[in-house]
Formats: sequence, C-alpha cells, structure tokens
Amino acid sequence: MCGIVGYVGERNSLDVLMGGLRRLEYRGYDSAGVAVVDDEGDLEFAKRAGKLQVLADELGRHPIHRGGTGIGHTRWATHGGPTDRNAHPHLADDDKLALIHNGIIENFSELKEELLADGAEFLSETDTEVAAVLLGREYRATGDLREAFRRTVRRLEGAFTLLAVHKDEPGVVVGARRNSPLVIGLGDGENFLGSDVAAFVEFTKRAVAIGQDQIVAITAGEVTVTDFDGNAVEVEPFDVAWDASAAEKGGWSSFMAKEVAEQPDAVANTIRGRIVDGVVSIPELDQLGDDALRSIRRITVVACGTAAYAGMVSKYAIEQWARIPVEVELSHEFRYREPVIDDGTLVVSISQSGETMDTLMAVKYAREQGAKAISVCNTQGATIPRESDAAVYTHAGPEVAVASTKAFVAQITALYLFGLHLARVRGTLSEEELAAQVAELQAIPEKITTVLEQGERVGELAHWMSDTRSVLFLGRHVGYPIALEGALKLKELAYIHAEGFAAGELKHGPIALIEPGQPVFVVVPSPRGSATLHPKVVSNIQEIRARGARVIAIAEAGDAAVLPFADEVIRIPLAGPLFEPLLAVVPLQIFAMELSQAKGLDVDQPRNLAKSVTVE
Ligand code: M6R
Repeated sequence: MCGIVGYVGERNSLDVLMGGLRRLEYRGYDSAGVAVVDDEGDLEFAKRAGKLQVLADELGRHPIHRGGTGIGHTRWATHGGPTDRNAHPHLADDDKLALIHNGIIENFSELKEELLADGAEFLSETDTEVAAVLLGREYRATGDLREAFRRTVRRLEGAFTLLAVHKDEPGVVVGARRNSPLVIGLGDGENFLGSDVAAFVEFTKRAVAIGQDQIVAITAGEVTVTDFDGNAVEVEPFDVAWDASAAEKGGWSSFMAKEVAEQPDAVANTIRGRIVDGVVSIPELDQLGDDALRSIRRITVVACGTAAYAGMVSKYAIEQWARIPVEVELSHEFRYREPVIDDGTLVVSISQSGETMDTLMAVKYAREQGAKAISVCNTQGATIPRESDAAVYTHAGPEVAVASTKAFVAQITALYLFGLHLARVRGTLSEEELAAQVAELQAIPEKITTVLEQGERVGELAHWMSDTRSVLFLGRHVGYPIALEGALKLKELAYIHAEGFAAGELKHGPIALIEPGQPVFVVVPSPRGSATLHPKVVSNIQEIRARGARVIAIAEAGDAAVLPFADEVIRIPLAGPLFEPLLAVVPLQIFAMELSQAKGLDVDQPRNLAKSVTVE
C-alpha cells in the first residue's frame, strides 16, 4: 500500500524515482506522482490518477526538469478518491515544498480546522495535505527544514511515513516514520529512501531500516537519523540478501507464475541451515533461551489472509508435536477484544511483508501485556520482526505478485521447523519421531516439483471453467485451511465467488449450496496417513456428487477410493499427513492463476488489492 521513494545524488532523480516506483508497483496503488528539486533550487512536480504509465505519459508530454533530489509516490486511496488532485505529492509554502505520505493521519480533522482558522487553503480531500500545510507553516516559522519537520511530525497522530523536499534546501530529503515502513539505501555519493528495499536494490544492497518514531535526513554524502526530538540515533546497516534480478519476471508471463514455480526453492531455502545432521535447530531462537520455550503454556498465532491460513495449518502440527495449545487469530480481531495473555503466552506473528498494520499492532499489544513475540517474516528489516523478541525469517525471496504463494509454503515450512524445534527442546517427540518428520520436510521441495509438472492439466481445467460463477472448496484437518486458501486465491485473482468449508461442516449448512454442475474442489486426506478421516471425506464427495456437484479431487497418488466419484482427480505425491498442505495448495494456486488469465485479468495486481496492508 502506497510506495515511497526518495533520492539525492548525481543521477537524474526522475529516472531513479520512476524505476523505484515501478519496483514498488506490487504494493498496490491507484495514482502516482513525483517532485524533483534541481541544483538551482527549482521544484517541479507531476501527479496523475491511474497506473504509473499514465504518469510516464504525462511526463512525456510535459517534461519536468532533471534534478538530483526527488521524491516519488504511488498512492492507494484512503482519504479522498483516486484523483489527480488527491494524488501525492502535496505542495505547500507557495509551492516551495512537496510532501508524500503513506499511512493515515488520525487527527487530521482537528489539525485542518486549526490551519483553516489560520487562513490556510486546501486543494485536496486528503489527510496528507494537512501535514504538507503544517510543514509549510513550520518552515516559514523556522527557516530550517529539519526543525520544521520535527515540529510537524510531533503534532501528528496515527500511522505515517512522510518524505519532504523544499526548494530552498536543495540536496536534502527528510523522512519520518511511525508504524509505517521506511528504509534507507546507503550509496556512494548518493543515498536513497524507500518503502522497502525493492525501491533501490538496483543501486545498493546496503540498507538501514528506520525505527519507530525516527526521522532521517539524506544528502548525497550524509545520512542522519534522530528521534522526533532531534536526538541522534545509532543505526545498524544490513545487506539485502537478494539482488534486483530476483524481483524481475525473468521471462515468466507474470510474477505469480514465477513465484509459483519458485516454491521448491522457497521451501528448501527456508530449511537451509536449520537442519544439521538431521536435527532441527533454529539459531534465531537462542536469544529466547530453551527455558523460555519450555515454560510456554500457550501459543497465539496472529496473522491476516493467507498468512493466517499458514498459521491454521501449523496449529495441527505444533499441537501434535510439541503438545502446546495453539490458537490462531486474525490480527484485527485479536487486538480489539482484550485477549487473555500472560507471561506463559508466546505470540507468533506471521507476515510476508512484515508491515501489515493489524499484525504489527497485535504484536505490540501482546508484548505490552507481557507476552514474548516471535515473528515469522519474509522481509528483512521490516517493522514486525524489529518489534518482536525474535525473528524466524522465511527465505522465499521477494514476493511481488499480490497473491501470496511461495511465501505461504515458506511460512508453513518455518512454522513446522519451529514446531519441531519446540518438540525437541520440550522432549515431546522421540529422536526417531523427530527424524521421521525432518525427513518428510526435507523431501517436500522435490514433491512440489512433481506437483508443478501437472500445471498444464490444471490450466486446461481452469480454461474449461472460465465461465464458472461460483466454486466451493472442501477440506478436513490440515486440508481445511487449504480449502480456505484455495477459495481466497480464486476470489482475489479471478473475482469469482468462492467459499472454503471444513468438510465435516457440509451437512450443517453448506450442502444446501450444491446444485447440478456446482464445481467443488475437495482436498482428500491420505488413506494411509488419515485412515479415519479419508473415508469420511470420500463419503462427503459421494454426498455432493449425489446432488449434482462437479467434483475435482486433490488426492494422493494411488488413492483409488475417490475415482468412482470424482469428475477430475489431481494427484499429489505421498507425504506424511501433516505435510500434504504444502503439496495440495499448489494446484489450487495454479487453478486460480490460470482462471484469472483465461478471463484476461491482471494476475499480479488484482483490482482493489494492495500487497501489504499498511493501514487498518
Ligand atoms: O504481508 P502479510 O503476509 O502480512 O499479508 C497478509 C495478507 O494481506 C496477505 O496474505 C493476503 O491475504 C494475500 N493477498 C493473499 O494472497
């Protein structure tokens, strides 16, 4: 949501800004804009509703000058519709300063009233313009951009990343963050700012994540970070683990197609270094200490969307292996209901981006109540891992498509490693049992490759079904969250009504939806691993088939029991029952992607969606 880029250096900043904004497109946006200051102190800007190409076309028709200092923005509308006027940057101080913003300024109405009473005029419906006008007023009072910026941010409530430039101080970009992301890219004779490292990784892999309530000022040769009162803050640079090519399509038709294909690597890379001589050990947990892990009485997982489904899958494994009760909560529900938390509670957050606002707030709330918090995250330097007691990173590489795929399998992998680590430390599994589970996990990358080989067939199925208006998904045990995930993928990518159900719930209501021709995907548990559940799900298939459903079964290789009742069977390799989700989800991802393509939709950036939801 909202992409932010800032640059100071010798390059033409407009090129850097437009390139950075393209790399941040995946975050989701509906308008874009840039402001550039040249060495003579001229400030020019352009902004347009629509995709970046609309802004690029505008800049082609009405070029702005080529300065070495600039800020760029992609906006996902919150306050005020996606119009040219509401697009960022917003100007103030007689158009001498430009400001961009990600987040929501919660006290904007009261500030606006104050500024209106002071004679200010507003051109947009945004909360952002209030910050711009306030900064203009403070600049007139102080004549110092850094001081004016500090005074401004101290007045703001809510979540914000702000960047600003002023024509009277060419060669400086100031930025601030509270509850929204901002990362510095450290260059040689040039410096960058971005919502995430994708904005500048093409130029530098040395980065610094700015902390909560901090301000940064970059010039070509210097970076200073302070708190909101101007006190210097120590920063810890890190090296970005992937390069720009990892965030390119590399010949694939879409980022999603590439990311689906990368899933064997996402799992293998997340395992790498965490299984040594057949024993799971997660070094990142050392800082908590084994005693702390032994004394956990309850785990609460907080996450949203696909990440929450990864949490639901992990509940089955962690409870079975480590014998700790696990509850999985949507972050936005968790934080507004006085949950019972104490020092025996471990909160595990799951977030690909590490910036989902509700998950961040849930983690902060839990820690305030005395819980320890572990973050399972895919993005280095993101806010949630920084706000946690320990971070277990997934190593899926950058996920650019809005629909989460490789991050999901990497999250389950990391959580399974965590569950096995806990089981070892707490002594709840024997060495033989641990070794058997470890072997299952290590075999997953190759098995996902086998599932991917059926992609063409799943694609054909999707193309036959491109007129379908509703699809149902059934699963049981670990197959239940996979049914939910299959439905979510189809909704977000193909804009088709889709519902996931626990198969056991069918006769309690959902079966009323079955009418002749209704497509139903059924995730069938293994007949070997789930001898009790398998026949029950086969019975469910018979029940819906008897009412005319068109059944597409995702079943283990060799499972003959489904054959008489399923219209289509997609086979997955044999795996331990807890490991089936990592395989069964793949055809559902491909189905949704192909159906989206068949309908001519934007696979990577579905309508109305943002990759990371950084506002409530
Ligand atoms: O970055 P996060 O993992 O915290 O994002 C959580 C959800 O917004 C995300 O998984 C969303 O549901 C995906 N678009 C689903 O494909």
